[in-house]
Amino acid sequence: MTTALSVRHATKIFGAQVALNDVSIDVEPGEVRALVGQNGCGKSTLIKILAGFHAPESGTEVTVGGEKLAFEDPAASEAVGLRFVHQDLGLVGNLDAVDNMAMGSGYITNPTKTIRWRKERAAAGEALAALGYDINVRVPVASLQMSERTAVAIARAMTDRGSPVKMLILDEPTANLPDAEAQRLYALVRRVADTGVAVLFVSHHFDEVFEMADSVTVLRDGNHIITRPVEGLDEEQLIELVVGRKLEAHNKDAADAREHGPEILKLTNVAGGSVTGVDLTVHRGEVVGVAGITGSGREAVAGIIFGGMERSGEITIDGKVLPQNRPDISIERGVALVPAERHANASLIDQTLRENITLVDPGRHVTLGILRRRPERADVRVWLDKLTVKPGGQTEYTMAQLSGGNQQKVILARWLRQEPEVMVMDEPTQGVDVGAKADIHTLIDEAAAQGAAVVVCSTDHEELVRVCDRVVIMRRGVSAATLRGNDITADNITAATIGRGTGDSTEPAD
Ligand SMILES: Nc1ncnc2c1ncn2[C@@H]1O[C@H](COP(=O)(O)OP(=O)(O)OP(=O)(O)O)[C@@H](O)[C@H]1O
Ligand SMILES: [Mg+2]
Repeated sequence: MTTALSVRHATKIFGAQVALNDVSIDVEPGEVRALVGQNGCGKSTLIKILAGFHAPESGTEVTVGGEKLAFEDPAASEAVGLRFVHQDLGLVGNLDAVDNMAMGSGYITNPTKTIRWRKERAAAGEALAALGYDINVRVPVASLQMSERTAVAIARAMTDRGSPVKMLILDEPTANLPDAEAQRLYALVRRVADTGVAVLFVSHHFDEVFEMADSVTVLRDGNHIITRPVEGLDEEQLIELVVGRKLEAHNKDAADAREHGPEILKLTNVAGGSVTGVDLTVHRGEVVGVAGITGSGREAVAGIIFGGMERSGEITIDGKVLPQNRPDISIERGVALVPAERHANASLIDQTLRENITLVDPGRHVTLGILRRRPERADVRVWLDKLTVKPGGQTEYTMAQLSGGNQQKVILARWLRQEPEVMVMDEPTQGVDVGAKADIHTLIDEAAAQGAAVVVCSTDHEELVRVCDRVVIMRRGVSAATLRGNDITADNITAATIGRGTGDSTEPAD
């Protein structure tokens, strides 16, 4: 059996930054390998070398199925049998599955160059069926469930393009998938591997490393730390390998002991987007979670509160009505929004970290009309440190020079620095590594302890368990149930989101 992927001495240097340092790994046909490590450890850099996007330093050698890979040439990567599914999936929402799948490989045409639609649809349907999905291939992919969209992206990657597929490479495939849907993806990846294709996937979710992978490779600061079978490894050991030290256990009692102040945020019969009716009250010093499968309304709650979305019903802050569609007034009243998919929604990629952080209040360091740069940099540096943005202290780096997770931390810093009265967060730790995740959770605790009301919309149920005093479950557009205290467990949240309520532990939402 020829090794599917063999990487030898992979090294990549960006300026003064060694992103990958002499990394060698092998992946066998049919093997599912997880690639894990903290933000900025070099995972995407390795994948981008394989994809033909980055040229590595000399001395780096890669073979795929025994064939040597020519670098910096995406067509060559595809020709040797590498296929990629990037984090944003790269699908066009208003096109259907047939069109999306044809984007990579070209339509099936007659000699006269007319597209043979019936054949196209059959081929798309078959490719999806082979992956265990029965999806209507003629509806816009935007109307599909997230896991179905992921399946379309994988089916597209696997379609025949003149060279046999040797390896499927996925960058954070479940980043946006609620638990129930992630389960479907695990089965899908297994099917791909069972055909003898090697799979390499990047993940910050260790539960899926254990569910999906046969083996795991850990990178730290660009170095290869270990490659080993998943069997015999537990989560605590994996965290220690990734972070390089033990993480302190969190004491949930601190949150339980927190005093809640008066009511500050109130939603009454609010509807908009996928939300058809939400009632919600949040007190100062309280952290309220919002859970739900995609399409339940969970994904729209944050935007509705902040005012970036059309809505009906009433929202008040400290008893004063908040006008709709006026994010500027929301900001004035002390509301902050940390949106999901920050890469697309929030970051100015070619501007500095300093500019990205201070853009919400550019006047803070202006005295007599003059911007005082040094205090501004010092201020920004404090926040980069608090969120352990790497490389450290680089206020003048552009966002483009940071890894994905570190870019997200910069956007969080922007809003945490505002010390908002009401902080609305959508997937606050999406794409963020275990260590930084713990830091962000602590910052949420601190914001609440200082009297902020915090709303955390998340598909990460462990996260909700960790930070929330109360979790509101969205189902079919409405706030359907609430979990409190000891009833807030990941299993209870999952059961409630798919409507298999545990009865006793859920109560009507308030
Ligand atoms: N285009 C670039 N220019 C300069 N430095 C870069 C560039 N891309 C990445 N880096 C640096 O290389 C290092 C590795 O980044 P990489 O994107 O591979 O991290 P990662 O492991 O994928 O992290 P994450 O989990 O946050 O996505 C980081 O220190 C990053 O700042
Ligand atoms: Mg990355």
